[in-house]
Amino acid sequence: PIAPTAEIVASARAWGTGVGAFNVILIEHAHAVIEGARDAGLPAILQISENAVRYHGGDIAGIARASLAAAAAAPVPVAVHLDHATDLRLVRAAVAEGIGSVMFDASALAHDANVAATTDAADWCRERGVWVEAELGEVGGKDGVHAPGARTDPEAAAAFVAATGVDALAVAVGSSHAMRTKTTVLDLDLIAALRAAVPVPLVLHGASGVPEPHMAEAVASGITKVNIATQLNIAFTGALRTALDADPDVVDPRRYLAPARAAVATEVARLVRTLDDVPGG
Ligand code: G3H
Ligand code: ZN
Repeated sequence: PIAPTAEIVASARAWGTGVGAFNVILIEHAHAVIEGARDAGLPAILQISENAVRYHGGDIAGIARASLAAAAAAPVPVAVHLDHATDLRLVRAAVAEGIGSVMFDASALAHDANVAATTDAADWCRERGVWVEAELGEVGGKDGVHAPGARTDPEAAAAFVAATGVDALAVAVGSSHAMRTKTTVLDLDLIAALRAAVPVPLVLHGASGVPEPHMAEAVASGITKVNIATQLNIAFTGALRTALDADPDVVDPRRYLAPARAAVATEVARLVRTLDDVPGG
């Protein structure tokens, strides 16, 4: 069934476990994530980014409705979340489609402008019962330029959450978006300090670059929501390429998309188990 992100994240936090939030570009991703979560018997979050919406011609309706329908039919709790929205119009469109949680990302703005824009978005969301995540201390790599050096200061994070009223906070702790190699070293002491200073769940972006045992350490140190996109794209595209190479005459997309979808499901099942099976969790 569809479950609110608020509930999935709150129960993970209460248990000291992590929850995977997986980016959906195509309907195959939504089905694959749900298949993986079902195989593991664990909840998952489907997330649709502003970039993915742009790919779909700027209209969120199609991919949102497909994701919500798949989540509703899932045998495990599945949430649908809007990821990295920079435009409040997209937030409104997502909520109009029935999406109950959003990440409003004003982290590219200067600090005070980030606070002001995030407060506006969070106020709008709170009035409608929409769970909102924001970001402080920009996690790099969104523009293809890796910046794993950014760090979120715990005191600044506590002040940001108090000023904006957000429900969750994306923090810069050593990761960077769109990494194709698992070479990220997270600052676990900083995660623990942020966990102690900030009253809302912490979100790790750019988790594809993080070795899987290290993801579990990040959760044990205080991360709750773990965002993973590139790792699924690597699995999807790898399986698709293998299928195309194996049969140069293939033309039916189902012949090469089915193995790609299955490869993503396998990744997701392993990832959600890793995030759930945390020392002390
Ligand atoms: O918001 C999405 C994520 O932060 C995913 O990052 O592609 O590096 O896993 P990634
Ligand atoms: Zn991200």
